[in-house]
Amino acid sequence: MGYSRILGTGSFLPEQVLTNAQLAERVDTSDEWIVSRTGIHARHIAAEEHKTSDLALKAAEAAIQSAGIDKHEIDLIIVATTTPDMVFPSTACLLQEKLGIPGCAAFDVQAVCAGFMFALVTANNYIKSGMARRALVVGAEIMSRVLDWDDRRTCVLFGDGAGAVILGDSDEPGILHAKLAADGRYKDILNTPAQISGGKIQGMPYLHMDGPAVFKFAVKALSDIAVKTLAEAGVDKSEVDWLVPHQANLRIIESTAKHLGLPMDRVIVTLPQQGNTSAASIPLALDSAVRDGRIHRGQTVLLEGIGGGFAWGAVLLKI
Ligand code: ACO
Repeated sequence: MGYSRILGTGSFLPEQVLTNAQLAERVDTSDEWIVSRTGIHARHIAAEEHKTSDLALKAAEAAIQSAGIDKHEIDLIIVATTTPDMVFPSTACLLQEKLGIPGCAAFDVQAVCAGFMFALVTANNYIKSGMARRALVVGAEIMSRVLDWDDRRTCVLFGDGAGAVILGDSDEPGILHAKLAADGRYKDILNTPAQISGGKIQGMPYLHMDGPAVFKFAVKALSDIAVKTLAEAGVDKSEVDWLVPHQANLRIIESTAKHLGLPMDRVIVTLPQQGNTSAASIPLALDSAVRDGRIHRGQTVLLEGIGGGFAWGAVLLKI
């Protein structure tokens, strides 16, 4: 069996930026509170006419260009999103149509902020089993559409964006090891419970979160899965060049890095200007570090993410 390897990365952030100071004009909060508790200074907000598939398209086009492949080589599209354009078809099918590459397999993965981990691992298995050769894996979100903009406990945390990778078959190892996990018993501390029934939205259509409970769970789960992933792969932390974590809260990122024994100068942090972009945050962070030259070929990178469910995972790879 062969391997899969990242051939290219891309990302997209909407033009409109919403600063903490602007948010403080709307809800009872302050730049000082948001920065000290989360590390977030600003976030990007999608234009009203844009859907998640539009953000995904921009990120996908950038990834295709960076991989140097013809888009018609893509034989699998997986989109990780918790804010799909519509109930169905999947955002992956809508993206496929926008890319103009009909025919290839396309589906969505729903694991909220951990979605990109689940999507990447799925694509890896498709490639290793020979079912696909060139997979487009996207994390794309318009979280601003599921926020209650009068709830200061949640609206300050999130942002919109998209990130993508092209994963291709390879003779050399790219993805070295991965671990995924989920625990549905924690469904009540982070959710958006609404559903469509009888032609109406039933239940709360806004993101609900017990912040301190999520914080506690996230630090432990992320630390444990990162340590286990390295141990199972037989890779020492000193061999990890970069940690690319889900960008939810700077204190969660710092605690996880500390637990792993990695200094913060080996951690990619994009949170201050982007907020939590859910499934998009890991590919957005990866792409920014690839483009500014910090992450380059031959390096060992550990990706890790956690989201509602709870669902979480880590992927160790050679770039
Ligand atoms: N501005 C000002 N005050 C606020 C704000 C705000 N934006 N939000 C909450 N407060 C107040 C609360 O009302 C509370 O006031 P009270 O004591 O008078 O009731 C006080 O601040 C403390 O509230 P806590 O929720 O205990 O604040 P905490 O220090 O835990 O910080 C935070 C909240 C930032 C949400 C933190 O718990 C956290 O980051 N949790 C992790 C959640 C997360 O990252 N979620 C992302 C989605 S999940 C994921 O991606 C893993």
